[in-house]
Amino acid sequence: MDSCPPPDPSQALGMTVMLDRETIAYVDPNSAYFEDFGPFDGRVWLNTAHQGPLPKVAREAGRVALEQKVRPHLLRDEDFFEVPGRLRAALGKLVGASPDDIILANSTTYGLDLLANGMQWQRGDEVLVVDGDFPADVFPWLILRNQGVVVRFIEAQAGRVDPQQLSSEISPRTRLFCTSWVNSFSGWTIDAASIGQICRKNNVIFVLNAAQGLGARVLDLQALAVDAVTCCGFKWLCGPYATGFSWLSPTLRESLTPQHAYWLAMQAGKPLSKMRDYSLRTDLGARAWDVFCTANFFNFMPWTAAIEYLLLAKPQSVARYDQQLVTQFLQNLDEDRFELISPRAEPERSTLIVMRPRKPQEAGIWQERLSIAGFDVAVREGNLRISAHLHNSREDIVGLMRVLSS
Ligand SMILES: Cc1ncc(COP(=O)(O)O)c(C=O)c1O
Repeated sequence: MDSCPPPDPSQALGMTVMLDRETIAYVDPNSAYFEDFGPFDGRVWLNTAHQGPLPKVAREAGRVALEQKVRPHLLRDEDFFEVPGRLRAALGKLVGASPDDIILANSTTYGLDLLANGMQWQRGDEVLVVDGDFPADVFPWLILRNQGVVVRFIEAQAGRVDPQQLSSEISPRTRLFCTSWVNSFSGWTIDAASIGQICRKNNVIFVLNAAQGLGARVLDLQALAVDAVTCCGFKWLCGPYATGFSWLSPTLRESLTPQHAYWLAMQAGKPLSKMRDYSLRTDLGARAWDVFCTANFFNFMPWTAAIEYLLLAKPQSVARYDQQLVTQFLQNLDEDRFELISPRAEPERSTLIVMRPRKPQEAGIWQERLSIAGFDVAVREGNLRISAHLHNSREDIVGLMRVLSS
């Protein structure tokens, strides 16, 4: 990584996409969101709860990242700091937090793993999880049983605990409660505000997994009593696979035992031409917890473009649009054929529509039928799961309903 002043990458490539703020300037705020995605080769992707599609602008940013590697003279030393810095800024803006408190990650699990391994546990400490939750919310704690930590499952309808129930489950030994904002299998949303209040009142650390919510609903960390949020980037945030982030409250973060000391993090604010300073820095804040290779160009450049795009599109407007698609679907659903498992109305309703064919064992058959007709949906735990996002149009839902009623 010798320093050498490169030409402006965008000019050298002769591309319209640039690596500065102008990257997304050509996104027309008046055009329909779905025009900013694709091509989908004539198919309709209704499985954002699994993988969200990259917007066009993110594809371009990915192309720039690839070209920089093909022609390494385009890669500047500063990029190793500016790329993660820009992503952190976009994520901070998205969740109403300081960028300095954002930890860059490769998954949802990354933040849970940091907490499980960074907290100082006593034998008999209790972690509460929800029976029916996504396994990422369970495994990082289960392994602590080796250290005498008790992991207790709360039996909750639709894998979604309500505040009163949580209140009655908390014991004097409960240290932490971890759950999904939106349940991946039932589509139910928790009342994160009330649950946060209950945790705070009982001195319990509240860890919120936002993987199935953020991007489709608004998260404002200024308004929530939450201690940690963890999220992946590849669903509703429309980033590449192997992206994610966490936010930990500064108090919680500072209480953790440091897990790693990464040389490039230690180099923050210093030139790469001089790096043999072995002092272990303690002034890095959240950056000290970042995933290694934090300037993960191939993933983080497109993801940053995707998040900047969502910010430009306005998260509140995207949330409203997504809910309109859900409403359109639910108003037209033939309930003689399908039993709705996910909630009918907000605030419990999410953007995950889960339903069970009335004839048992038919979910797979329906999935196949839909796939042949060009509609990609998921089957989870025996149910059909449909998850539309801003890349979908009202016509997509009309076409889907046509197949479902045929
Ligand atoms: C609620 C929830 N959490 C986490 C994940 C994924 O976890 P990770 O980002 O660690 O792969 C998923 C789906 O893949 C999910 O639905």
